[in-house]
Amino acid sequence: MKTIGVLTSGGDAPGMNAAVRAVVRTAIDCGMTVKGIRRGYNGLIEGDIFDLDIRSVSDLIHRGGTVLYTARSPLFKTEEGMNAAIENCKKHGIEGIVVIGGDGSYRGARDLSLRGIPCVGVPGTIDNDISSTEYTIGFDTAMNTAMEMVDKIRDTAQSHDRCSVVEVMGRRAGFLALQCGIAVGATSILVPEEEYPIEKVIEKIRKSQATGKKHFIIVVAEGVGGVEDIAKKIEEATGIETRATILGHVQRGGRPTVRDRVYATRFGYAAVQLLNKGIGNRVVGMNHGQIVDYDIYEALNMKKPFDTDMFEVANTTSI
Ligand code: ADP
Ligand code: F6P
Repeated sequence: MKTIGVLTSGGDAPGMNAAVRAVVRTAIDCGMTVKGIRRGYNGLIEGDIFDLDIRSVSDLIHRGGTVLYTARSPLFKTEEGMNAAIENCKKHGIEGIVVIGGDGSYRGARDLSLRGIPCVGVPGTIDNDISSTEYTIGFDTAMNTAMEMVDKIRDTAQSHDRCSVVEVMGRRAGFLALQCGIAVGATSILVPEEEYPIEKVIEKIRKSQATGKKHFIIVVAEGVGGVEDIAKKIEEATGIETRATILGHVQRGGRPTVRDRVYATRFGYAAVQLLNKGIGNRVVGMNHGQIVDYDIYEALNMKKPFDTDMFEVANTTSI
């Protein structure tokens, strides 16, 4: 391949810029030309495509968000959108694309590959919910941000002898909630993967109260939701003043951590190595700490187990 494109798609994640930088630098090292595609698949449809050189990705590795911008593109899923995207690839000489995003973006990459534009997916989402990889770019930064935010909430919960019910992101997955919940010493962690009735949460608070504990943190994954309702039930049952907080998009921003910068760089490098060999319709990922790649179809059919042992550890140690 002589020319490849790079785009970021779906929800942004800290570290996406580091991945874009790695793609550009690696591709140029391989003797290829790189085109940036703005706003995910929308940029491909609209022809919002520009040249990237070595210096255009300087001072980027430490920045949150994505300089390529991102979007969710319903039009791309239509025949009309796909045709326009392919036309623009031809027009700009794009022979392969690195797609940085989540599962949805991988599906788009698969469709493009089937239509003759080989794509390689790079896992980018704060949710860490992509089955074909142990790790997704943005997860570490988001976990640390959520932890810092809950630490602050704990200060005021402690001052007021309150219970705080905090919702963290994760879409339908509880990976972010589990890690964050352990890190902040939450009394209970509610995730979509594990049945954990509110009665058990209340019972746990009562048990802790009996040993002298006066303030409580409950971490709830957004896939469970209903934090206001949970807070109301806790207050009614225990008499402890309870507040609900939804952390929201603060978790998606900020400077990427070391882990996100390093993994993003390694994923970006690996993706370009595949395209440079003319290999597409693949995704890169992490398995037992090693960079691996899979066929996209195979990757999309994988299952990612929830770590029930870790959930048990969290429950045992938070009392
Ligand atoms: P993520 O990549 O974070 O999972 P989305 O699910 O929003 O985010 O997907 C990002 C974009 O990928 C969508 O806006 C759409 O353009 C494309 N996409 C999603 N699902 C499909 C699909 N089934 N087929 C083709 N393209 C898809
Ligand atoms: O996939 C990342 C994520 O932040 C999820 O955790 C959340 O459910 C969703 O995106 C929020 O999307 P939006 O930014 O469109 O509100």
